[in-house]
Amino acid sequence: MKTVNILGSTGSIGKTTLKVIAKHRDKFSIGVLTAQTSVKELAQQAIDFGAKLAVIGDKTHYRALQEALSGHNIECAAGEQAIIDAAAHKADITMAGIVGMAGLQSLMKAIEQGGIIALANKEPLVAAGDLVLAACQKSGATLLPVDSEHNAIFQCLEPDNKSAVERLVLTASGGPFRDWSLDKMMAATPEQALKHPNWDMGAKISIDSATMMNKALEIIEAHKLFDMPASKIEVLVHPQSIVHSMIEYCDGSVLCQMGASDMCTPITNVMGWPHRIESAGEKLDLKTLSELTFKPVDESRFPSVRMAYDCLNSGLGACITLNAANEVAVAAFLDHKIAFLDIYKITARALDKLDTAPLNSLNDIVNYDIVSRLKAESVLDALTLGHVV
Ligand SMILES: NC(=O)c1ccc[n+]([C@@H]2O[C@H](COP(=O)([O-])OP(=O)(O)OC[C@H]3O[C@@H](n4cnc5c(N)ncnc54)[C@H](OP(=O)(O)O)[C@@H]3O)[C@@H](O)[C@H]2O)c1
Repeated sequence: MKTVNILGSTGSIGKTTLKVIAKHRDKFSIGVLTAQTSVKELAQQAIDFGAKLAVIGDKTHYRALQEALSGHNIECAAGEQAIIDAAAHKADITMAGIVGMAGLQSLMKAIEQGGIIALANKEPLVAAGDLVLAACQKSGATLLPVDSEHNAIFQCLEPDNKSAVERLVLTASGGPFRDWSLDKMMAATPEQALKHPNWDMGAKISIDSATMMNKALEIIEAHKLFDMPASKIEVLVHPQSIVHSMIEYCDGSVLCQMGASDMCTPITNVMGWPHRIESAGEKLDLKTLSELTFKPVDESRFPSVRMAYDCLNSGLGACITLNAANEVAVAAFLDHKIAFLDIYKITARALDKLDTAPLNSLNDIVNYDIVSRLKAESVLDALTLGHVV
């Protein structure tokens, strides 16, 4: 029996993880579950899975959580710090499924306690990858990628043949606006951007897929996770989302991992690792596949992908700013405050003048992230006042 902590259990990744666990109740038990505001769902999950501890980030829901769990012998707590403390609870597997940089501190705590860290929450890796990897080395924690592309690379990468890798090819669905003109994208609404053609995901990553900023973050994520130079990482648009990524080796072999567009597969892969266990999700029926196509990204409509390479060239400060400004811009777009293409404007303007502050510690990175958000917010304010930025 392995104990599993799920940080962000009420999100898309969290719920899929619970689906996998429901299929394998003989293999996994739940330690900690956390959410930010979805208190009813959190309490129900904790009861259904017999969690030891349920934590709600927003303290205003604490009473509701206590009432819902009364008589169930499940501890509860509330607040940002309570989530960080809960992440330190011993577990064999921690699913890092919080969205955005908000997951950074709890991820670091989970790493300190060791075990397997199933990493879905890519933003902390983009902004603090070296510290995350160093912390894993120190504690002995094993970081396993949940992102379908990185999980595919993880499955295809032969540890003894890393130097024979010519290219990592990250595939991208192209999102809901893959074939839209720039004019049409200019008027895109949050509702349209949230309708991903292949994947069912949380709001932030759905918008990131529409801008292809998700792929930008994934380029940086791949660079960190697999220690590959940016020049060896390529993105190809693959609208069918069947091939989740590929590795080209120097002998001409191209290894890929395929599967249905269902996060159950990569989540089951890391939950079962180093063994393979039955998936609770959709499986690929090869007989129904009519075509697999691949084409380059149109950077004139999706400048985010180029931004990732530029940021990797510029250094860590740029990667932190790219991520922070994008989080600010996506929230504003979801709030109907800005137009879709303004997301690129805000990130680009925030990247224009990077500070040269030292970035050696977690505190340095957190401060740089805050300053980057302030920069992005000032561009956002200018945009909402109708100024040209
Ligand atoms: N969804 C996917 O298929 C997918 C695939 C690959 C990678 N990822 C990555 O996985 C992460 C999670 O994505 P998701 O789609 O599952 O997101 P999501 O559906 O929005 O869920 C986010 C989870 O984090 C909690 N949360 C939100 N804000 C928080 C905060 N400030 N502090 C603590 N907890 C907070 C949410 O609680 P409430 O429910 O209470 O708001 C929820 O449990 C992201 O980094 C994403 O890029 C997702």
